[in-house]
Amino acid sequence: MNLSPVLAELTQYPFARLDDWKDEARARGLDVIDFGTGDPRERTPAFIREALIASIEEVSSYPRATGLPGLRDAIAGWLDRRFGVTVDPATELVPTLGSKEAIFSFPQAVLGDRRAVAIPEPAYPVYERGVLFAGGNVVTVPLREEHGWLPDLEAFDAWDEIAMFWTCYPSNPTGATAPLSFYEELAGRAREHDFLLCSDEAYSELWFDEPPVSALQVADRSNVVCFNTLSKRSSMTGYRSGFVCAPAEVIAALRHFRPTVGTAPQEFVQRASIAAWSDDEHVTEVREVYRRKRDIMLPALEAGGLRLAGSRATFYLWLDVGGPSEPFARRLLDHGIVCAPGSFFGPAGEGYVRFALVPTEAECARAAGVLRRIL
Ligand SMILES: Cc1ncc(COP(=O)(O)O)c(C=O)c1O
Repeated sequence: MNLSPVLAELTQYPFARLDDWKDEARARGLDVIDFGTGDPRERTPAFIREALIASIEEVSSYPRATGLPGLRDAIAGWLDRRFGVTVDPATELVPTLGSKEAIFSFPQAVLGDRRAVAIPEPAYPVYERGVLFAGGNVVTVPLREEHGWLPDLEAFDAWDEIAMFWTCYPSNPTGATAPLSFYEELAGRAREHDFLLCSDEAYSELWFDEPPVSALQVADRSNVVCFNTLSKRSSMTGYRSGFVCAPAEVIAALRHFRPTVGTAPQEFVQRASIAAWSDDEHVTEVREVYRRKRDIMLPALEAGGLRLAGSRATFYLWLDVGGPSEPFARRLLDHGIVCAPGSFFGPAGEGYVRFALVPTEAECARAAGVLRRIL
């Protein structure tokens, strides 16, 4: 059978291996506590669930790619409150089915003569896959702890070959944040060399000390594209609701492209999303939950000799394990604790592991007890 060569060449999604590990552990009768994948299991706030239910209509029609004006207004209102950024909801926003599909398909809508895309490593794997399926090629930008997990822009030399440069801060997996000066510098290079700075800000609302900045806050955002989502901010992974904010020309391209793919969010989800983006109070509570879990888990891990190596924000603990990450993760698995080896995020992640603080507080307390015993 003639199937996509890109698909055939893709290595197994590393997290599929984690699923195999978990199945094996359960088959051995272990009580598994899963810090491996980053799917929050917190309750979606009741007012958001109610807004969804109240929005289901008798007649169901196709949603339009432009999205409901009320949703674009609510997103623009949040960007203004949160980052002090004024965007035009009529021309600079498009709602998406969560941010994953938008991140994946973005290169298909924008890659032209230039086919190269700069992608950090370690990183969320979807940036690379989107580029490969769009027929582009990847220029890997290694991130290092000694550089604050930021790309070394001085060392990068493919500025005139790239069409896009992906960044992700606060970062999955490292939890590092980026200062506005970093975005200013990269946005300046984007204007000078005519590429798009694509900023994935899925974790912008999960912070502990200072609220992270957005790439949208740069003085001139004519080459800046920002992706954000309600998945983590409002514990809404299952709703699939996010947005892209970009210059009008890019949004016009997406409005042209997206109806072909059929990726407009359902209108009842859009109405629930209006409620979510319009409220900030519930997000304070979401942050508090992750702070409590962090306060339970981190001391136990540190007492066991692991060193926190990033994690200024996000619900990830990124830890230096002082040796190869996969045997370390397998050792914990023998005691029912699942974490993600850094090597799953690419060679630059070797030596580290990632704990996603998604189990319940009670499970975290149980896991901390186990860790104190075995590490
Ligand atoms: C870095 C990063 N970006 C984007 C996403 C996509 O989130 P969603 O599609 O739920 O909005 C995730 C999900 O885990 C992520 O970790």
